Amino acid sequence: MNNTPWYEELSPGTGPLAPRAWFAASDAKRLSLDGTWRFRLSPTADSEDTSFAVPGYDASGWAGLAVPGHWVLQGHGRPAYTNVRYPFPVDPPRVPTENPTGDHLRVFDLPDALPAGGEVLLRFDGVESCARVWLNGTELGTFMGSRLPHEFAVAALLRPRGNVLAVRVQQWSAGSYLEDQDQWWLPGIFREVTLLHRPAGAAGDFFVHSSYDHRAGQGTLSVDSAVPGRVLVPELELDLATGESALIAVEPWTAETPRLYAAELVTPGERVQLRIGFRTVAVEDGLLKVNGRRILFRGVNRHEFHPETGRTLDLATMRRDLVLMKRHNINAVRTSHYPPHPAFLDLCDELGLWVIDECDLETHGFEELGWRGNPVDDPRWTPALLDRAARMVERDKNHPSVVLWSLGNECGTGRGLSAMADWIRGRDPGRPLHYEGDRSCRDTDVYSRMYASHEETGRIGRREDTDGPQARARLPFLLCEYGHAMGNGPGGLTEYQELFETYERCQGGFVWEWIDHGLAHPGFGYAYGGDFGEELHDGNFVCDGLLFPDRTPSPGLVEYKKVIEPVEIAGDGRAGTVTVTNHHDFSGLSHLRFGWSYEVEGEPVASGPLDVPDLAPGASAELKLGPPPLADASREACWTVRAVLAHDTPWAPRGHEVSWGQLPVVARPAPAAASGSVPVRAGSRVSLGPAVFDARTGLLTGFGGIAVDGPRLDVWRAPTDNDAGAAWAPQEQYARQWHELGLDRMRHRLDQVEWEDGRFVVRARVAPAASDLGLRVTYAWSGDGERVRLAVSVAAEGAWTLPLPRLGVRMGLPGAFGQAEWFGAGPGEAYPDTRRAARVGRWSMPVDAMRTPYVRPQENGARAGVRWAELRDGERGLRIEGDPAFWFTARRWTSEELSAARHLPDLVPGDRIWLNLDHKMHGIGSASCGPGVLPRYQLRAGQAEFGFVFSRSVSR
Ligand code: GAL
Repeated sequence: MNNTPWYEELSPGTGPLAPRAWFAASDAKRLSLDGTWRFRLSPTADSEDTSFAVPGYDASGWAGLAVPGHWVLQGHGRPAYTNVRYPFPVDPPRVPTENPTGDHLRVFDLPDALPAGGEVLLRFDGVESCARVWLNGTELGTFMGSRLPHEFAVAALLRPRGNVLAVRVQQWSAGSYLEDQDQWWLPGIFREVTLLHRPAGAAGDFFVHSSYDHRAGQGTLSVDSAVPGRVLVPELELDLATGESALIAVEPWTAETPRLYAAELVTPGERVQLRIGFRTVAVEDGLLKVNGRRILFRGVNRHEFHPETGRTLDLATMRRDLVLMKRHNINAVRTSHYPPHPAFLDLCDELGLWVIDECDLETHGFEELGWRGNPVDDPRWTPALLDRAARMVERDKNHPSVVLWSLGNECGTGRGLSAMADWIRGRDPGRPLHYEGDRSCRDTDVYSRMYASHEETGRIGRREDTDGPQARARLPFLLCEYGHAMGNGPGGLTEYQELFETYERCQGGFVWEWIDHGLAHPGFGYAYGGDFGEELHDGNFVCDGLLFPDRTPSPGLVEYKKVIEPVEIAGDGRAGTVTVTNHHDFSGLSHLRFGWSYEVEGEPVASGPLDVPDLAPGASAELKLGPPPLADASREACWTVRAVLAHDTPWAPRGHEVSWGQLPVVARPAPAAASGSVPVRAGSRVSLGPAVFDARTGLLTGFGGIAVDGPRLDVWRAPTDNDAGAAWAPQEQYARQWHELGLDRMRHRLDQVEWEDGRFVVRARVAPAASDLGLRVTYAWSGDGERVRLAVSVAAEGAWTLPLPRLGVRMGLPGAFGQAEWFGAGPGEAYPDTRRAARVGRWSMPVDAMRTPYVRPQENGARAGVRWAELRDGERGLRIEGDPAFWFTARRWTSEELSAARHLPDLVPGDRIWLNLDHKMHGIGSASCGPGVLPRYQLRAGQAEFGFVFSRSVSR
């Protein structure tokens, strides 16, 4: 037997029509075939014959399946996650015999209203990984290219009633070798299936060319159309034949000002609604420019993902993604790593985002083999690659939002990529090309990298990267991926933004990635790799987004919003001056309204509007805030200046905050001393005002009638994904090294407990087994009868080479003390290198709301710069003042329980609230896939002195 089945051939398929421009067809011309189909899953491609495709076949025993949808998310088979490795033997183009095969059947009637004449197209917008299609028993053809459209002409086969559409989908095909993206493997008909009526004389393919000359303020419009016709743009009083060109005064399209002109393409048979945006993209003077100006990408990588439906997304979800991006100051999307649903790009045109549209192509698994046999360097695969390039470009070419075409992701290098680049350049000279995987930059117009360190990015910005070809030195630079948003983090975004704003060559980047791909799971909450019993998998590397799977923003997104804010608000609070800088690329500031408030100890005492001139992009102005509304040098005070939307926009209402800044005026006075009272021993206890200690262990056991545990020195945190690091950078794998050293199992040796000179003093040495490294610690307590002060002093012993996860004390409180309030940075979590978005104020929330629900549990929830915090049970409360300000964390489980948990449901609240009051915290970095913690944010063991003042909180 040597019959190569069609799905193991290198050809992209046979039968589909040539690709063409996409537009949203009017309802009168379309019949959606979405809904419940009949479905049968077989374990191999040949376990069932094709008789199901013949009309009359009895499929009444088959299951129902929602189309669009992935069968593995509907109870048939299981999802599987791998990052780089193919989950099958690499023997291209052969695939395993165990090849889950989904037979799909749909019987439908034609609507009475379907006009006669013309052609009818059967359209598939996305099928993974391949399909063989029959209509009424006649085979239409086959195709591969999962996230690309395929159409068949079917008018001749249709009947008014009882049409039988049969589709056989294999999970694995030759195409799978080209689709090794880092995501779940999710077979199925996952985008719409539609019948489209094309009347005689309907528009065929068309190409809207709409450029903008920023010098003349004029647009040029011409529309190439396979079916000649006219182009009407009423607003511009333009009536133009296809193929002709017009020069006309227009407002340009940019991501900041997404000006679209409603237009119509009128062919003899139909009128197609168009929305035209005028803009010119070019690489000039070593810069990527739109309408003559350098742009800065504040971008994200977006996979299509929904926790219940996988890569099947409805329009509302797509819009929600974009609204969330716009609200978080994001101006660009890379459609990693395949063209998105076509309607998504309409929304990008409308709401205003720069798009890198990426082809459905990745062969990363060949890297494991030293790139041996890489399809992109094997001419036999070139037709398949060209087919993918054409299906993307033809479908998406009329979107002004698409400013770069990307050849694909992580394919190494090869002749096939060059062939794609040549073809795309010939077809659309109006857009530069992007590809990251080739340092020679032969087939790209921009120099793109992923996860380059700050140091290297700076070098490239200064044009000191002389290791590459000469031509590369003239290209603009972008980070198509950076800031790996896995778990807690990413840290270090601010420092990247500084580089992008310092070096004109560095034109920004795209955070990896938009959303965690955690699949809704009855037991695990959200599942990740390995949770479905996969034999090969990459764990929670699939959960590395700025959104949690349910699309709530993670602290990383809030941080990114602040880091990339388009208006910078800085200045000198004491002098009462504020400097406003416009970092937009095109807009002035007239769409924003500015206001100030004056805050004393976090409470606003006065507020008012601030007149800010309509600054040009790049310009700044220094403005006067006036004298502080309250002259009180004994209480900490600052100005907060905010810029909010002046009017409703399609993505946020008036009043939505875009940027903010805080300018300190009065510094925080040190907490008052607490001395005078004398420790008193009574049996096994020692009391000092409201504090009660165990005389033997030296531990605080009660405070003002509240049973407490501790506080004791604590250095451990449940390792974050970034602490775990990546296999290829073992020196950055701190979690492993911390475990090896034993920082998770520190022993506390009590050396001395004494009370003298009005102080209760405990000395201890805290150290891990098998090591001579240690931390000497002295806890010195003093009090004034009401307030009790703890002074901690720490001295490292031995030659510490590793940073500490944290340095502070941990203590326990009864679970009833579940309401927290603090004056410090908030409201959200912050760490040393992720604290830009945390603003100083008075915050209050239940302890349960202080945690951040990372899909894989890990350190989370710290609040930065806390001056004081209180925990209350309703009536009673414990107040903790920091000297200096501290990192405040409160949770209902210990760090050890947090470390041990694999999924969120593993975390079960205990009867205690555990507080971490930290003097210092190690940074977060981005080492799960990128640079580690910058030196300035590392916590080095050494000498440290810090203190806290405990008191009963006054009831409010
Ligand atoms: C990149 C890749 C992405 C993703 C990321 C890590 O190498 O392009 O698809 O795998 O790393 O999450």
